[in-house]
Amino acid sequence: MSIFFDDEKKQFVLKTRSTCYMMGVTELGHLLHYYYGPAIDQEDESYLFRYYDHGFSGNPIEKRMDRTYTLDRMSQEYPSAGVGDYRISGIAPENGDGSRLAEFRYTSHEIMDSIYTIPGLPCAMPDDNPSEHADNSDTIHTLVIRLSDAVTGLKAELYYGVFEEKDIITRSVRLINEGNDTMYLDKASSACLDLPFGKWDVIHFHGRHCMERQPERIPVFHGVQSFGSDRGMSSHHQNPFIILCDRDATEDKGCCYGMMLVYSGNHKTEIETDQFNSTRIVMGINNENFRWKLDPGASFDTPQVLLTCADGLTKLSHCYHRFIRDNIIRSKLGKAHRPILVNSWEASYFDFDEESIISLATSAADLGMEMLVLDDGWFTNRNDDNSGLGDWVVDRLKLPNGLDGLIEKVTSLGLKFGLWIEPEMVNEDSDLYRTHPDFALKAPDRSPMMARNQMVLDLSREDVYEHVLNSVSSLLEKYDISYIKWDFNRPISDVYSHGLPSDRQGEVLHRYYLNLYRVYDELTRRFPDVLFEGCAGGGGRFDAGMLQYSPQIWCSDNTDPISRLYIQYGTSFGYPISATVAHVSASPNHQTGRTTPLETRAAVAMSGVYGYELDPATLSDEEKDTVKKLNKKYNEIESIMHNGLYYRLTSLSDADRFFAWQTVDEHKEKSILTVVTTSPLANAAPLNVKLKGLEKDAKYSVDDEFICSGSALMESGYTIERMTGDYPAKQIFIKKI
Ligand code: DGJ
Repeated sequence: MSIFFDDEKKQFVLKTRSTCYMMGVTELGHLLHYYYGPAIDQEDESYLFRYYDHGFSGNPIEKRMDRTYTLDRMSQEYPSAGVGDYRISGIAPENGDGSRLAEFRYTSHEIMDSIYTIPGLPCAMPDDNPSEHADNSDTIHTLVIRLSDAVTGLKAELYYGVFEEKDIITRSVRLINEGNDTMYLDKASSACLDLPFGKWDVIHFHGRHCMERQPERIPVFHGVQSFGSDRGMSSHHQNPFIILCDRDATEDKGCCYGMMLVYSGNHKTEIETDQFNSTRIVMGINNENFRWKLDPGASFDTPQVLLTCADGLTKLSHCYHRFIRDNIIRSKLGKAHRPILVNSWEASYFDFDEESIISLATSAADLGMEMLVLDDGWFTNRNDDNSGLGDWVVDRLKLPNGLDGLIEKVTSLGLKFGLWIEPEMVNEDSDLYRTHPDFALKAPDRSPMMARNQMVLDLSREDVYEHVLNSVSSLLEKYDISYIKWDFNRPISDVYSHGLPSDRQGEVLHRYYLNLYRVYDELTRRFPDVLFEGCAGGGGRFDAGMLQYSPQIWCSDNTDPISRLYIQYGTSFGYPISATVAHVSASPNHQTGRTTPLETRAAVAMSGVYGYELDPATLSDEEKDTVKKLNKKYNEIESIMHNGLYYRLTSLSDADRFFAWQTVDEHKEKSILTVVTTSPLANAAPLNVKLKGLEKDAKYSVDDEFICSGSALMESGYTIERMTGDYPAKQIFIKKI
């Protein structure tokens, strides 16, 4: 059992392998947070808290003569609204009488031997597809604590899923209107973490299209810092993931907390350090453009937060990598070999026909690639990115033998076939829009904002749900398709649904995502052998919500390997290599114009789900030979890369010179060190990196060049041979002997 309740003291203790989480109920029924951090030999942490009479912090009526009891000072598990805790609230209700108050007090709890699920939302699951050597002894328990507002009858059920071996605690909240009046929620966050002591840095992952998930580490200051997206997608601009760490925390040491939202829509993380230097983090759906109507008896479930605490950033990343692979990704293909593919996008964009695609497939097959992906442009009226979305009818001008004719030829070459689609979108010039103009998100009498000249379908509607499901399903039923690249190429605006009344317009975006997850859920159930790849103009929806259904996501539209060093570095803090799609593209690169060696492009792409985004026919004979060798090599190392432990060996302060990272297999027998130089210097000091994750006392052969002990490689490091020229890279194989 990993959940304990002390009935006398009314205290809860949640234990994972290396962490401990404690809370307790006060004599008035307020649920307080006592501790979250490294495992400690102590069941009761309430001794830490001494309360004084704090001026300008009020007291509940029962404590009017005891001015030390103030919600404004106490650490909360799920902060109430408007009743004396002036920090960030967890919830913003509008009650039937117009008041905007909620005061939660404990009513009951339940401890379960099983995992909880969240209706309609992706969430952590038991690992029912364990890899051969995995330690399958994970125990999972759930704690539900019920809180209630005595006046309105608003109930909050706080869910805690304890994944003991994985060091993850999941959190989610169900809000239930048990009163007699309709109420509205203007904010419904998923989790709050109060850290009463300590000085912190926050690492958040901001970015833009073609430069996603850039880590920025900044001190947490007095006042509120807020990180989020209101673009209708988790976004290129701010990932729904943050790390809060000790000011001196490093990759290897220091208390680090992670909070990751399992959600693909608007999100927000607020961090506040208050007058008493206590820090509060609240994470959940962004309250911008959110208002949920709760009729009597109705309930609302928040997305899940994955919470962890680890010693050092590396352990924190390992924890998320493993958890996402084992407990978030549901597809059985998540742990399978991913076929090396060639994608037609950067090879020919919209300019292709059957002949050119067959020739792309033929050269790909000759070089040892395993799948041909036909990207954008295969359907009618799609010769650029201004038209054609919505109808999904094969363009017979480009493909006279249809998709079946093409697929037959591609598969006869021994390749699998994959297809691109952008099912959530529509162009004005489409039969779909002509027949159902109300299917697009757009407000009455208002021209919608266009992006890429397209509109977003109103997936909050049942008929649009059916339409999207059928569009993809009929393609998969009709054709021999092994992989779908599911794109989403614009942010959402003009949020208005013709399917909902005016007092429910604040629900549109969340309903959109509930139905998107429903479509994905149904499709992955109907077509379990199809590999889904998530994509949103590159990595605009790179989040744990999408990963539940698509085990891999196109990391960025920027395929330049040097830009990718930064993007993949940032991505690696929360997400595993096996989810991060990276392709070798042409040089000079189409996004940056930079020229890089093939080996460098491959070394970066191999630290991801590998493939190509170029026409192999344009390569020289020597390059073709290299590609053959690279493909062989990738297949040899894929398992170490995808299933091993990933170590960042350099930080952004080294980035002007080089990046280095390493993966080590679970038995510490094989490891791959990758080094890419970003600016070779003349007559410079050699680069030295300390390796990680090896067995101290074992002997390792380094690239078959010399033999060295694990301790030496980790303590004195490995000195990299001089590399000159444009962005040279090296992959070094380390093998236990
Ligand atoms: C954006 C994607 O990220 C690209 O890889 C490509 O599929 C284009 N869309 C196609 O329009």
